Amino acid sequence: MHSILAGATGTTWVEGRRDAGFEISPDTVVREIERISPDLVFLCGPNNPTGTGLGLDTIRAAYDATDGIVFVDAAYAEFMPTDEENALSLLPGRERLIVSRTMSKAFAFAGARVGYMAADPAVVDALRLVRLPYHLSALTQAAAIAALAHAGEMLAMVDEIKAQRDRIGRELPALGFSPWPSEANFVLFGGVADPDRTWADLLERDVLVRNLSIPNTLRVSAGTEAETSEFLSALAGVGGAAA
Ligand SMILES: Cc1ncc(COP(=O)(O)O)c(C=O)c1O
Repeated sequence: MHSILAGATGTTWVEGRRDAGFEISPDTVVREIERISPDLVFLCGPNNPTGTGLGLDTIRAAYDATDGIVFVDAAYAEFMPTDEENALSLLPGRERLIVSRTMSKAFAFAGARVGYMAADPAVVDALRLVRLPYHLSALTQAAAIAALAHAGEMLAMVDEIKAQRDRIGRELPALGFSPWPSEANFVLFGGVADPDRTWADLLERDVLVRNLSIPNTLRVSAGTEAETSEFLSALAGVGGAAA
């Protein structure tokens, strides 16, 4: 969606390259910024669809390597390890840094279409001038404020989802698959011989995963303990790990 939205606003979009294992080291981010020379650096952490975390050292290195805006899409921040500092802690003193979040994931409130960002007040003011019109209705904003007032209940599932995500990561290797470490609410796993086939076989057992056309991978969202058990036993039933 980010590349599509950039296109719709006449903004050139250039993809950077991640390291092996989908990480972005500080050296890599600096090298990519020097290669592309962008006005705006867009980093996704934790990343979708890989779940890969984004180190604060990488964000700092990106910020120091550009005179432009550094935008961190932290849609999955609530699923990060709680002992890890998140990108918000980097805002003081970095007036070109923007951190965005959404109520679609941890708040399970995707239908409301509420995203938000934290940044220096001057950046927020500038964005008010260029944002697309009609982006958030008054009703949506009222619903978001009500949801925030009940953040405890709205976020109640986060710990269970994180536990089930970690369980998926622990149990998939025994079925012959190789999960990548995830700080989001899903797990990307490799070692799938024929992702289209395994996707269809799982669907036949009422389990819907995502096939994002990354060779030999599928992505599964963590759910409740019962849903996760159903996914794991369905996958054990259909098999499909590369030899
Ligand atoms: C990394 C990332 N950012 C943003 C979004 C969009 O969230 P929203 O529902 O607020 O548009 C998604 C949705 O999948 C996402 O994966």
